Amino acid sequence: MCGIVGYIGKEQAAPILLDGLSKLEYRGYDSAGIAVYDGSEIKVVKSKGRLKVLNELTHDGASMPGTVGIGHTRWATHGAPSDTNAHPHFNKDESIVVVHNGIIENYLKLKKKLIERGYEFCSDTDTEVVVHLLDYYYHGNPLEAIAKVMHRVEGSYAFGIMFADFPGEIYAARKDSPLIVGSAGDGNLIASDVPAILRYTRSVYYIQNQEFVKLTADSMTFYNMDEEEITKTPTKIEWDINAAEKGGYEHFMLKEIYEQPGAVRDTFSPRLKDGKIVIEELGMTDEEILSVKKIHIVACGSAYHTGMTCKYVFEGLARIPVEVDLASEFRYRDPILEKDTLVVIISQSGETADSLAALREAKSKGSRVLAIVNVIGSSIAREADNVMYTWAGPEIAVATTKAYSTQLIAQYLLALKFAQVRETIGEKEFGEMLTDIERLPEQIEMLLGNKEKIQKFANRYLGARDVFFIGRGIDYAISMEASLKLKETSYIHSEACAAGELKHGTISLIEEGTLVSAVLTQDHLFPKMISNIVEVRTRGAFVMAVTNVGNVEIEKNVDYVIYIPKTNPYFTNSLAIIPLQLFAYYISIGRGCDVDKPRNLAKSVTVE
Ligand code: AGP
Repeated sequence: MCGIVGYIGKEQAAPILLDGLSKLEYRGYDSAGIAVYDGSEIKVVKSKGRLKVLNELTHDGASMPGTVGIGHTRWATHGAPSDTNAHPHFNKDESIVVVHNGIIENYLKLKKKLIERGYEFCSDTDTEVVVHLLDYYYHGNPLEAIAKVMHRVEGSYAFGIMFADFPGEIYAARKDSPLIVGSAGDGNLIASDVPAILRYTRSVYYIQNQEFVKLTADSMTFYNMDEEEITKTPTKIEWDINAAEKGGYEHFMLKEIYEQPGAVRDTFSPRLKDGKIVIEELGMTDEEILSVKKIHIVACGSAYHTGMTCKYVFEGLARIPVEVDLASEFRYRDPILEKDTLVVIISQSGETADSLAALREAKSKGSRVLAIVNVIGSSIAREADNVMYTWAGPEIAVATTKAYSTQLIAQYLLALKFAQVRETIGEKEFGEMLTDIERLPEQIEMLLGNKEKIQKFANRYLGARDVFFIGRGIDYAISMEASLKLKETSYIHSEACAAGELKHGTISLIEEGTLVSAVLTQDHLFPKMISNIVEVRTRGAFVMAVTNVGNVEIEKNVDYVIYIPKTNPYFTNSLAIIPLQLFAYYISIGRGCDVDKPRNLAKSVTVE
């Protein structure tokens, strides 16, 4: 996700801003920019591409004199990566400038109102709405203008703001996106995260939701949304620099596992409005949705596993046939695609060679292609007819977790949208399912609280030779993902098996002490799963079960149980996968593997 920095003090600001932004590169970005007050006006330099470009454009900051400034690295959410869409953004007369990390969910409504009031927009970003709104509310008092904007915008934000009328001040405000403030001896700083300011200070103030701050070279004043001054106490940072880039987590994978509640919320909340699902980017009218007679999901790896899960969701809710294909198979089997088939390509990176080739194959056969992608402006996003972005933010660890979870959410919303248009579910059921989706972040948060318990259990299996994951229906799809997580991070051989298939071969591999993970979240399949568990246990397996809270009778049939909170049976994958991600993570680090960069693997497989 984006990174923001700001400095005000006695030193030249630009080099400090560029250094701070370089410490936030790990957050992933596609463009960057800085704004500096040069003594008479605010100057902005910004560009698409890496920070190196910005360093060259500003001669490492030397060509931007001034001791007050703000900077930004952009991870595109609204508007493709470009010089124009890069931050900072100016208002019309260049008297106000803003950088932003987050998503303004009601930006379209605000943009419409501002255009009606004569404002002109030059970018496709949601952020530009903020600077024009500040202009609209500014009548000489920055505090008042900022407070009003905070009351109007919905969504998540960390803002850095400068007013040319007040060159001795910078402002910052926060809701949901991280924001810290620290003093740098002869000046003060704002930043999205600790790494950007750790070289100057280990004493930071964490800005809480709907608070904002005014910084001068030698003071910092904190306010709430009602412009009342508040007092805050600083926090001492104990991390070393490396740990700081991971937000205090030991590895990116763990950090991203813990980012899932926010990533899931960021993916569904802009698309749930007043009890309706609004997927503007789908680009399909209700008639076009009704004309779709089949859905063909094509992806690789974990993205493919989300398709396997959502086959059940689409078919169960929207009663539409779904075929799920590995992209590397699809692209070479001259697939039969009808005109009324919607092809859905799922990809975190949007650059996976097999998935891009599958997209082109589908388009060559005249199919409409929808992409579900995390990286804005990536090849698959650009070449699809329509793209539905997951807002997981940049995912650094090779083993996907938060992007996987947001791909599930995107497909749940799509399936519910199709079901509503095709009238295959009633309004009451629809409303209940939206409520279930909105509760997922807090339920994931709760499951993350099992971290220590799972780590303790995982440490008993560091020497495992083979691990089997079994399930039926959606639980088989969950098992596929759990198995991949384990083998790609710990190098332990693992496989997922449809529990009903065990007796057709795989059960020959079960012997004394073999670890079998059984997922049982589908009540109607529970008895059958118990039979499969008994089958493997009588042959010596040690069975770890993941099941819905309340299924206590399972405890007499298994050796270890992890309970997940109650949710709609179609959404259990979003919860059951959490302990299984943690299980893989702890086994991997227990075995001393490089969990963020496992051997032989790449984050994006851009070759065949
Ligand atoms: C999952 O943990 C792996 N990193 C891998 O299977 C990945 O899901 C696959 O390569 C697809 O990548 P994509 O989502 O970027 O297309």
